[in-house]
Amino acid sequence: MAGEQRLAVVGAGLMGAALARMFAAAGWSVRVCDPDQAALERLNADLPANAGMPTGRIVGHRLLAEAVADADLVIEAAPEKPALKQQLFVQLAALTPASCILATNSSVIPVATVGAQVDDANAQRIVGTHFWNPPDLIPLVEVIQGPRSAPAAIETTLAMLRGIGKQAVHVRRDVVPGNRLQHALWREAMALVDEGVCTPEDVDAIIKNSFGLRLAVLGPLENADLVGLELTADIHKVVLPQLSRATEPSSALTQRLARGERGISAGAGFYSGWTEARVAALRARLIRHVQRVLQER
Ligand SMILES: NC(=O)c1ccc[n+]([C@@H]2O[C@H](COP(=O)([O-])OP(=O)(O)OC[C@H]3O[C@@H](n4cnc5c(N)ncnc54)[C@H](O)[C@@H]3O)[C@@H](O)[C@H]2O)c1
Repeated sequence: MAGEQRLAVVGAGLMGAALARMFAAAGWSVRVCDPDQAALERLNADLPANAGMPTGRIVGHRLLAEAVADADLVIEAAPEKPALKQQLFVQLAALTPASCILATNSSVIPVATVGAQVDDANAQRIVGTHFWNPPDLIPLVEVIQGPRSAPAAIETTLAMLRGIGKQAVHVRRDVVPGNRLQHALWREAMALVDEGVCTPEDVDAIIKNSFGLRLAVLGPLENADLVGLELTADIHKVVLPQLSRATEPSSALTQRLARGERGISAGAGFYSGWTEARVAALRARLIRHVQRVLQER
């Protein structure tokens, strides 16, 4: 059954290419649409590296209609621009079979927004599938129910993802925006840099070598039970009023951007001296770490 299922991925970038390879390795036939021929070529050039995957499972297309016409599942992984995604979902609603699930991998744009220009009947089959990078390695996928998503579409999506071995979690409401947990921490980390409490290196060192170490096995709510809810409430009375409530990007971030320090693409961001070799070493370390943690589970 799994071998007969068909995925179409919209966007052959970082996430789209990895998603295509992941589903192909699990036995799905995969089509990928991208207007950028170079992105499609990279996709195919990367294929032989995936040992064991039957060749021809991933086919690249410049035209959306060709890529999605017979899909069981479409995952949109195009750039994070609301108008572009809205336009794509109008086209996807028209070009795909009525039984096809239409999923967005958007990081923070709500399911309701990407499907805003789609009629009610088609909006029922639009859901969010929020994968984490690298999606083939990180087990979890959030399956997000938009205000018009049909429960059956959510169930089908959860089953498809569990069928390829992902840990799919049903997010029951399309909170605006998503990704709150991660950016709550990033806001506080940048506020500490802004206020001159710590350097960026020190903030990261504190997180990586203290509570960051346990996060993969101990979630914050389990942790609250461990320390006790009375102590947690007492701590919150003191800490919460002091936490950052910034509603704009921090000046730690905007000042660097104004200086052209965009992160690894510019060689500098919060850290300086990003070279290709350093980035590659960091990525390799991250992958090794995640693999080790998962193996030990
Ligand atoms: N990078 C991450 O860590 C990450 C994690 C989770 C979710 N996401 C989300 O996934 C989506 C894709 O992110 P990414 O990092 O892979 O981006 P990316 O920039 O690497 O890739 C986007 C691709 O979409 C293509 N594209 C542009 N217009 C298109 C169109 N009309 N039709 C089809 N393809 C088109 C581009 O040519 C490019 O190849 C975004 O919504 C992003 O927020 C990214």
